[in-house]
Amino acid sequence: MSLDYTQIPVVDWTLAQRDKPLFLSQLRGAMINVGFLYLSNHPVPMDLVDRVTALTPKFFALPQAVKDSVDMANSAHFHGYLRVGGDDGNPDTREQFNFGGDRVCRYKEGEPEYLKLHGDALWPDDAVLPGYRETMLDYYKRLEDMSYELTSYISEALGLQAHELHELFGSDRSKLQPRCKALRYPASPPGTTGVGSGIGAHADNSLLTYLLQVTEQSCLQVMNHSKEWVPVPPIRGTFVINLGRALEKVTHRVVIATTHRVLSPSGTDARYSLGFFSSLAMHIRAADMKFEFPPEVLDMKRARDERINDTTEFRYTEKDHRLAGDVVLEEKIKTHPMATLRFYPSLFGKFFPDGLPKHLVAH
Ligand SMILES: [Fe+2]
Repeated sequence: MSLDYTQIPVVDWTLAQRDKPLFLSQLRGAMINVGFLYLSNHPVPMDLVDRVTALTPKFFALPQAVKDSVDMANSAHFHGYLRVGGDDGNPDTREQFNFGGDRVCRYKEGEPEYLKLHGDALWPDDAVLPGYRETMLDYYKRLEDMSYELTSYISEALGLQAHELHELFGSDRSKLQPRCKALRYPASPPGTTGVGSGIGAHADNSLLTYLLQVTEQSCLQVMNHSKEWVPVPPIRGTFVINLGRALEKVTHRVVIATTHRVLSPSGTDARYSLGFFSSLAMHIRAADMKFEFPPEVLDMKRARDERINDTTEFRYTEKDHRLAGDVVLEEKIKTHPMATLRFYPSLFGKFFPDGLPKHLVAH
């Protein structure tokens, strides 16, 4: 018998209504032993998924000037469009459009700068792409609702009270802004075999990532504990859910963030996907979160660690003692100097003492 997984488990959302103990035990196994799962029969209406599926390629097919008009350099909240390479000179081959929910920026002079992260997204004019903003905001709201509900189930699956992991979100939902990212991975050049990097091996910083694979190419792969790449092909009617570093931290490695990558699609067609990233509330420090897991959950963790020969000792990093909002702001600033220069001038000099990186000066 293989000691490791070679495919991703499918968890049926509706099983929670029919046989909750079985549902929770499947969810527990997927979370502790794999860190990746397909969620089938989920509560997001399929007609909405179909509309999002149709609109996502249409956004990227807009004239470059329209996409540039919603460039992230124009957003204090780091929403908006990033062309291939982004403004951070990242070699990964993808275009992206980042947005959040309908939020009001509450930042006032003298308050922590991370409050500026929160705010309305940039959208193309409705006449240019009718229904895009409304549909994407509807999708966002449904994903947000599902993320709260799934987090309750995960809380129970890990032996906690249903509400306990909601502490991670803070008490005021309107102050939390998960992020959504639409992605376009161009096909690799003719004659190559799709081994180019759509996005290289990484683990997400989120609590959980909810991914809709919009097109049918099988490009997503997850690394199992034996360091083998396991394909995660699209399955219609499902979300792919993967565990991020924030959840690993706050559970002290009861669950482990999963390394994954996206290969550039082979052939001629681009691959599209849509990610929703749930995150810690900005006023929370990861190291302040403490959860008492029951012995049976800790036994499962120990059994996994022994099976995969994982002797990693849990340790907080310096970042885990800082406010989540400050950590996110620093990550955004480091990777998006153009928006930083415009909206965070007092921080620009600190992070970019030599001015704009060379690859941006020409723009
Ligand atoms: Fe990722």
